[in-house]
Amino acid sequence: MARRRLVAGNWKMNGDLAALAELDGIAAAAAAAPGLDVAIAVPATLIMAAAARTAGLAIGAEDVHPAEKGAHTGCISVGMVRDAGGRFSIVGHSERRADCHETDAEVRAKAEALHRGGLSAILCVGETLAERDAGQAVQVVTGQLAASLPGGAAAGWLSIAYEPVWAIGTGRTPTVGDVAAMHGAIREELRALVGNEAERIRILYGGSVTGDNAAELLGAGDVDGALVGGASLTAAKFVPIIEAAA
Ligand code: G3H
Repeated sequence: MARRRLVAGNWKMNGDLAALAELDGIAAAAAAAPGLDVAIAVPATLIMAAAARTAGLAIGAEDVHPAEKGAHTGCISVGMVRDAGGRFSIVGHSERRADCHETDAEVRAKAEALHRGGLSAILCVGETLAERDAGQAVQVVTGQLAASLPGGAAAGWLSIAYEPVWAIGTGRTPTVGDVAAMHGAIREELRALVGNEAERIRILYGGSVTGDNAAELLGAGDVDGALVGGASLTAAKFVPIIEAAA
């Protein structure tokens, strides 16, 4: 089944109001690629200004709290993201799983909160280098997926991002064969979990994607797009990835 590709950026804890000027070139490239979805997750402080600046780009959050509101100092809710003009959030990024000790159950709750609130989710999974070296990569990743997949998982609002932790920000990437094998394993696990809907849910690859390697990585089996960190910060680096995916 042909799945529409999604290229998503993740600015992480980078960027300021001046950096939003980069979105203009990115939005122009997205407009020139009507067969492709382009999205950018930005720090919470920038969601409103980014969304106001770029009607053609889906702007989102990097994380949300699962609760609707309440005493959760420093957190933002799905409703707040929506109110600011955000249309999605990343959940379960490995940096949050590591830095904030997020569990699969919490990731699942966050994704379900997004669905309840009418926003989309990009749910991240991925193994560490030690887990890969121990031959446990597929088991770890499919285990994370099974434990964090939200109820009602459907392609209309959910994408999965496979991000090997050891490939994030390191300049290292798995071989195309390894990417295809893992995406195939994720697809198979999705089939077991959600049946035919698995054929429609997009599986993105993330980890040191650049304009130089995007075409090759996107060409791997069962790769339906990319989640891009460092190379999404400037139009000069992100536009070639958009063009490779278009
Ligand atoms: O969310 C994005 C990923 O963590 C990838 O980051 O492209 O800088 O390796 P990177």
